[in-house]
Amino acid sequence: MTGRFRFPEGFHWGAATSAYQIEGSPLADGAGPSIWQRFAHTPGMMSNGDTGDVACDHYNRYKDDVQLMRALGLQGYRFSINWARVLPEGTGRVNAKGLGFYSRLVDELLENGIVPNATLFHWDLPAALDDRGGWLNRDVAHWFADYAEVMFKALGDRVPRWATLNEPWVVTDGGYLHGALAPGHRSKYEAPIAAHNLMRASGAGIQAYRAHGKHEIGVVFNIEPKYPASDSAEDLAATKRAHAYMNKQFADPALLGSYPPELKEIFGDAWPDFPEDDFKLTNQKVDFVGINYYTRAVVKHDADAYPLKAVPVRQPNKTYTETGWEVFEQGLTDTLTWFKHRYGDIPLYITENGSAFYDPPVAENGVLDDPLRTNYLRKHLGAMHKAIEAGVNIKGYYAWSLMDNLEWSLGFSKRFGLYHVDFATQKRTAKATAKLYAQVIGSNGAVLDEQG
Ligand code: BGC
Repeated sequence: MTGRFRFPEGFHWGAATSAYQIEGSPLADGAGPSIWQRFAHTPGMMSNGDTGDVACDHYNRYKDDVQLMRALGLQGYRFSINWARVLPEGTGRVNAKGLGFYSRLVDELLENGIVPNATLFHWDLPAALDDRGGWLNRDVAHWFADYAEVMFKALGDRVPRWATLNEPWVVTDGGYLHGALAPGHRSKYEAPIAAHNLMRASGAGIQAYRAHGKHEIGVVFNIEPKYPASDSAEDLAATKRAHAYMNKQFADPALLGSYPPELKEIFGDAWPDFPEDDFKLTNQKVDFVGINYYTRAVVKHDADAYPLKAVPVRQPNKTYTETGWEVFEQGLTDTLTWFKHRYGDIPLYITENGSAFYDPPVAENGVLDDPLRTNYLRKHLGAMHKAIEAGVNIKGYYAWSLMDNLEWSLGFSKRFGLYHVDFATQKRTAKATAKLYAQVIGSNGAVLDEQG
């Protein structure tokens, strides 16, 4: 077939989740608390007082959840490991029961023909390490590499694709600059240090993989393209700052071994002079980069916006998701082509892409139509296809998310799932988007031709 939407042969179709968002039982079987465990149990931090204590109860229901994946025909499943389940104090003693959970999950995936893709850090730092300074302590790079080594030795023969970090920008912007996410700090003096140590840790984790692993390792960035609100010099400069802050701040040290100059301008006296040698550590060869794409921002100058002096501008007559993000699929094509242009021909995966929209209750006949999400999926697969046609080396796509889950401090109110979850009964129901996605996988995209 030579339809418009044929994807390359062997294109990899999957779905993604993360530990704290779905597992529940955060302290079971000897696990240590994570910073998210603490944050969620601090009054006033979470919408509606929601926590990850139960979430999707995946810790107990993982076998059933693998069957949900199988029903979709997923070829890959991207999950994350809760560091504190494996190393309750963050370093040192290994908790065999916590490790056992991930080992059983991996076996279950493999038995069902699904390729495991493990992310070592998706925001849930062990609380014991936060007590020692967390991402502000330079030693964190070595703590991370030691933990990574434990995981590579335990699962490396069965897990062919690893990522060090998920979205370091969110960790630093939400966790250290604005405080809406764990550990809830608000300091422009801390944010660049946390960002730098995250990228040092990622580099140290990749080095550990080169010593112990034999397949692929990469790192996952959320890239949000920035477009100027006008042609004014002020708006153009604001757009450059926003782009440097969110996108280049992480990808540059990892892939180019330097920081973009705008960061000094943004952080002023809070921007440290990092030792030159650090960039040898941050700049390790990756086997792939994972890109999480959700939306874009149209940016204008605003002298009062701390510390960027730039704000996003809402676009008239556009569809926005429940998390307030504009549906803008061209941004995915632009992001992928920009990434190749700036960083070279690195194999890329879309490691997350999805949308939260209001879902009606599941009908008595079990149907849940979610047309806005279905449309989002269709449009973004088309936009990714455009980038492939333009020569970007995209190996696969993971939908966010397999099922509705804890949307961090926004709690359970924002639903991103292919499967609807009734959090009172834990019943999962395939949404119409899940059914379309299963057809996409089954036809390697050809079904999108019929849908126009
Ligand atoms: C994160 C997910 C999150 C999703 C939707 C990404 O920033 O990796 O954990 O649920 O976006 O907000």
